[in-house]
Amino acid sequence: MEAQLESLRTEALLTVAACTDEAQVEQLRIRYLGRGGELTALSDRMREVSKEDKPKIGKLLNETRSAVTAALDERRALMVAAHEARAFDGLDVTLPGASFPVGALHPITQLMDRATGIFRRMGFALADGPDIETEWHCFDALNTPADHPARNEQDTFYMPDGRLLRTHTSSVQIRTLERVAPPVRIIAPGAAYRRDEVDATHLAQFNQMEGLYVDEGVTLADLRGTLEFFFRELFGNDAKFRFRPHFFPFTEPSFEVDIQTAALGGGRWLEIAGCGMVDPAVFEAVNLRRGDRGLDPERHSGFAFGFGLDRLAMIMAGVPDIRLFTDSDQRFLSQF
Ligand code: PHE
Repeated sequence: MEAQLESLRTEALLTVAACTDEAQVEQLRIRYLGRGGELTALSDRMREVSKEDKPKIGKLLNETRSAVTAALDERRALMVAAHEARAFDGLDVTLPGASFPVGALHPITQLMDRATGIFRRMGFALADGPDIETEWHCFDALNTPADHPARNEQDTFYMPDGRLLRTHTSSVQIRTLERVAPPVRIIAPGAAYRRDEVDATHLAQFNQMEGLYVDEGVTLADLRGTLEFFFRELFGNDAKFRFRPHFFPFTEPSFEVDIQTAALGGGRWLEIAGCGMVDPAVFEAVNLRRGDRGLDPERHSGFAFGFGLDRLAMIMAGVPDIRLFTDSDQRFLSQF
């Protein structure tokens, strides 16, 4: 037994020292110290040892187990260290690290938020409506008859069920007036769709911001003051405005707003919005639908306006091509 222990110890220490990875060390641990291991088998034979030899053999057994255990532990530690060292092989700590870019809001979203903030200071609430609209909300209620060019199949995306992708956010004027009675003061930012050929200034889906104010005694002066305040907040105090007579079916009188500022390159007038006083025909269409006289053209008046956010963002940031807003090109987007 003594001799067996001696030779097991020698053999074990040699094999452990020859291990080249952690898995081998683990295999040897099982082979010597495991439940059915060689050293365990020898311990089981302590029963056969004579009484007087027991202390000596017992001591040797313990020493052998400690020596093998220590050798296994040491070898394992060595293997782990070597393994970790290999993981850093070829690692150049002087290389620049990987960057973790932080995202940002899209420039159109930024402008939308800013515009919303300005109108909120003037007491406008946020309103919205569906992108897939009925013809009635998008056209009929807005005094736009069936033979109006905007309703042409070539200009509008129609669904098989007769609904359509709204061609302007003006449908939210109707959605709002259907639900609430004056005083009404809302803005409605959102998507609008047209069957336009996509080019540097047109997208089939773009963004508008609608405004509507209906109360007793609302005048053209209120419209003008509101829009001039808004655009001055965006473009600065040197901005000049021109309200140029225009036509929209749902406002009377109607105007297009032109702006001129140094920032936009001096003498040029740029068209930035459509607006006007709500046509009484719009009030009557909503009354008919609601079945009441909640909107009384003799008592109530209102103004409405709408402008394209994409176009505004292009003007403000000097963006030459509207498609840049939808291209998801980081080189462009990260500039905002
Ligand atoms: N809806 C019009 C457009 O898309 C803009 C507009 C809104 C004009 C409100 C007048 C009043 O061109």
